Amino acid sequence: MRIKYTISIVFFVALVIIEKENNIISRVSDKLTLKQTPQTPLQPSSFSHILLKHNASITPPKNDSAFTLMKRRLENYSEHQEVKTRGRKHILLLATTRTGSSFVGEFFNQQGDNMFYLFEPLWHVEKMLTLDTGGTNATASAKAYRNVLQQLLLCDFSLLESFIDPLPVNHITSALFRRESSSSLCEESVCSPFVKGVFERYHCRTRRCGPLNLTMASLSCLQKEHRAIKSVRVRQLETLRPLAEDPRLDVKFIQLVRDPRAVLASRMVAFAAKYKNWKEWAAGGDIPIDDDEVRKLKGNCDNIKMSAEIGLRRPKWLRGRYMLVRYEDIARFPMRKAAEMYRFAGIPFTPQVKSWILKNTQASKDTSGVYSTQKNSSEQVEKWRFSIPFKIAQVVQKVCGPTLKLFGYKFVSSEEMLTDKSVSLIENKVFNVL
Ligand SMILES: *[C@@H]1O[C@H](CO)[C@@H](O)[C@H](O)[C@H]1NC(C)=O
Ligand SMILES: *[C@@H]1O[C@H](CO)[C@@H](O)[C@H](O)[C@H]1NC(C)=O
Ligand SMILES: *[C@@H]1O[C@H](CO)[C@@H](O)[C@H](O)[C@H]1NC(C)=O
Ligand SMILES: *[C@@H]1O[C@H](CO)[C@@H](O)[C@H](O)[C@H]1NC(C)=O
Ligand SMILES: *[C@@H]1O[C@H](CO)[C@@H](O)[C@H](O)[C@H]1NC(C)=O
Ligand SMILES: *[C@@H]1O[C@H](CO)[C@@H](O)[C@H](O)[C@H]1NC(C)=O
Repeated sequence: MRIKYTISIVFFVALVIIEKENNIISRVSDKLTLKQTPQTPLQPSSFSHILLKHNASITPPKNDSAFTLMKRRLENYSEHQEVKTRGRKHILLLATTRTGSSFVGEFFNQQGDNMFYLFEPLWHVEKMLTLDTGGTNATASAKAYRNVLQQLLLCDFSLLESFIDPLPVNHITSALFRRESSSSLCEESVCSPFVKGVFERYHCRTRRCGPLNLTMASLSCLQKEHRAIKSVRVRQLETLRPLAEDPRLDVKFIQLVRDPRAVLASRMVAFAAKYKNWKEWAAGGDIPIDDDEVRKLKGNCDNIKMSAEIGLRRPKWLRGRYMLVRYEDIARFPMRKAAEMYRFAGIPFTPQVKSWILKNTQASKDTSGVYSTQKNSSEQVEKWRFSIPFKIAQVVQKVCGPTLKLFGYKFVSSEEMLTDKSVSLIENKVFNVL
């Protein structure tokens, strides 16, 4: 036993010495280190460094035949891309938190058997790359987000796997964030037998499944005609340009935006601890305009605006690939907007989606829960006006002014105007000629 162990170590060390610059070896060794010290938290910065050095997929250290087969299928897939991708669409729904993106994501999640939908896979990437300061290095995470999205749109989970904590063993994980929000991950074909005693936080609602077998997920993904991913983590559309230019993909970007005043009001409720300062300012006192929180708000608005400006300018790489949608329009005219999104994506609008929308935009008050997508949409849309004081609205208008203007959200000039129901703050605006 010990001799065997020693031999492997010697062999391994020799390989490392011989092929010091070889990416695969260093990736594997990185993985081994991670595996051998499961208690040690990963060093996000060093991890991102590794990731940036080796931008491609991480080769899994395990030789398991199913994975190898899947890899080969993936290779086949790229070889015969021209035939295989005809008609196949890759939808990226890009938003920020509290813009109704879970709700809009359902438009694609409910499509039926032809769609492979993933809900916030980048959650794992952001978590792993979060620095001690609580933030992330925007450059490093943008690159990681892009690479993970690119692989996932091709049904390859290997890079995402390397960000899941604890690291999946044999491509099996019970820690995939909000698994139950992707019906594709809870289908019969992706449902491995239930294992008693294994705790899974995000287990399937529709049936009792064991931990997620990512090989199964990948195989299922390959069978589906279209793929969609929703994410609130991509900050700049421009960072995803390589996806638009990837000949294996036919990417359709849908940017979902919402009145920043409403977003802030909603975040103050949903993320109360993080928005403590805002709550204090709402309760009384002056708002220091140079505060970090205010700067962050401005940064968010600027990112959203910059992405939209690029999209609306229609550069060659984005032509036919970009659509801007306002949450308020979806809330008021869900069926019409969903149909538009499907038309833009080039995918038939199925009866399943229609009936889901009918069901979930009429249901009223009984469902609460901050992440609930069952709301009376028209009623919800301007409710925020009664939940934030005028001075908070004023600060948002001050730092996010150009963003409000671009998307057609009316400024309020007084407390009275803010709470006057007879004045809508949503201007009619058409962004996309379909
Ligand atoms: C990795 O990055 C290098 C240099 O930036 C590039 O040439 C190469 O194509 C990339 N590989 C993949 C798989 O993205
Ligand atoms: C992996 O294992 C299979 C069967 O166990 C074997 O045929 C194959 O050659 C192995 N691949 C590698 C890269 O070791
Ligand atoms: C995961 O799924 C693949 C494909 O169905 C299967 O071959 C493999 O044995 C599964 N892994 C485990 C650990 O059950
Ligand atoms: C890859 O494609 C070839 C030729 O079309 C086919 O014979 C082979 O079975 C495919 N391999 C896999 C793993 O799907
Ligand atoms: C962020 O990451 C990039 C790329 O790794 C690096 O060049 C840069 O110095 C980092 N920035 C900060 C502020 O750490
Ligand atoms: C939803 O809200 C609107 C506006 O307040 C109201 O007219 C409508 O009756 C509500 N629908 C349901 C099903 O509660």
